[in-house]
Amino acid sequence: MNRERRQFLHKSSKWIASTALMGNLPQILRNRHQGIAPSDQVNVGLIGCNNRGFHVLINHLKVDGVNCLALCDVDQNVLDRRAKELQEDHDQEVATYTDFRTLLERQDIDAVIIGTPDHWHCLPTVLACEAGKDVYVEKPLANSIEECNVMVEATRYYKRIVQVGQQQRSSEVWKGVMDYIKSGEIGAVQKVDIWANFNYGLGPKKVPNGQPPAGVDWEMFLGPASDHSFNPSRYHGSWRFFWDYGGGLMTDWGVHLLDMALWAKDLDKPAGKVLAYGSQMNLPDRARETHDTMTAVFSYDDYIIQWEHNAGKQVGPYDQLYGVAFIGELGTLVADRGKWQVFPEYDNASKAFKTEKVEPVKGQNGHQAHPADFIESIRSGKKPACPIEIGRAVAVSAHLANIAARTGSYHLVWDDDKNKISNHRKANDMVKPQYRKPWSFPKVG
Ligand SMILES: NC(=O)c1ccc[n+]([C@@H]2O[C@H](COP(=O)([O-])OP(=O)(O)OC[C@H]3O[C@@H](n4cnc5c(N)ncnc54)[C@H](O)[C@@H]3O)[C@@H](O)[C@H]2O)c1
Repeated sequence: MNRERRQFLHKSSKWIASTALMGNLPQILRNRHQGIAPSDQVNVGLIGCNNRGFHVLINHLKVDGVNCLALCDVDQNVLDRRAKELQEDHDQEVATYTDFRTLLERQDIDAVIIGTPDHWHCLPTVLACEAGKDVYVEKPLANSIEECNVMVEATRYYKRIVQVGQQQRSSEVWKGVMDYIKSGEIGAVQKVDIWANFNYGLGPKKVPNGQPPAGVDWEMFLGPASDHSFNPSRYHGSWRFFWDYGGGLMTDWGVHLLDMALWAKDLDKPAGKVLAYGSQMNLPDRARETHDTMTAVFSYDDYIIQWEHNAGKQVGPYDQLYGVAFIGELGTLVADRGKWQVFPEYDNASKAFKTEKVEPVKGQNGHQAHPADFIESIRSGKKPACPIEIGRAVAVSAHLANIAARTGSYHLVWDDDKNKISNHRKANDMVKPQYRKPWSFPKVG
């Protein structure tokens, strides 16, 4: 929130509460103001409204004192549908925009939620920070390494609160996992195995290019990405299987689950060495550039994280289609978003288990708590649950794996101080994206 505006609201809050002005406010605003000081009201705008962004907005609206003033989308059909839903189901009267820069000009908006495809995370975040707004940006932080870097720079330079949408950082299940691991119950953890086998990773069926549907600004959807005719498989939802807009399962689920391996050791930097192989093994009739099958290894000095995805295969280790196994000296802790459990190691000499077996422990998944944490950070100035440095660390790691597999270099050495892949020139060329004109790579300051 604009700090000056918050101070102004603090001064005027008593006045608003005690004068006839309350009687002049629309009923909806009056209801939302009741019991909440104007200085604690947070006005948000949403950029990218079709799916995730809207769900995140609804969870923001469950927090007392949060109002939605505006929506932005390049698809007028989405805008109309979501604005109607907000009015009918959530008592929110919103303005609608098709260009996020116009939304960012509004002085009465304190924070924005960014729910656009990954190639459209960087520019709105940097410009929102510059406009003095706090930001909840969906994961992965960006669609390239250098975009992640400039987003960190903007957050720090403009002194904004930026929450990355890795909501597992606010989940009871994963907090329980971290507490258990850090208490030492499974001993030292030197390796983490992660798997994510999802059907949707195969991508949609191939269809020919065509005209964009009425109301869709396809040029604005492409934005800084390279020019391409409209194709439904590059649009809502399935854009994530094309390198221009996303990174397939490696970045889509990779950042969520790799994040848990980093959290277990409180790491906030990408891995220094990344090895990855990826291929297209399933169903050539699908529209997809990203790898349906992939294995990657992320190596820190004394810690190895192994990732694999097999799109379209629904069977996985521990009978879970996705999960994280923290392999400890004394036992293995296995978790997904709904539960965690421990499988103890057996000591043949003493004929006893080395640690306690833990039956599945369940808890909430963080979808609601993460937006609430963001609002608390805006109000109190505390660090958000998933600060931008953490979003960067996992996104950079996932992008390195994709770059290793795409360039056929397979093994990359990442120098985080120099922001550079130090062992492969062609791979290093992919660290910074080429922005298509009239868009240009953002500058801070
Ligand atoms: N945290 C999670 O668990 C989670 C879950 C799903 C998706 N996501 C993330 O949320 C983001 C959105 O994913 P989705 O599944 O909702 O995609 P989606 O395609 O369903 O929705 C994206 C919306 O953004 C709009 N859009 C595109 N360019 C825009 C622009 N320049 N300005 C304004 N609007 C624009 C599209 O028209 C569309 O309505 C992605 O980054 C994705 O990785 C996170």
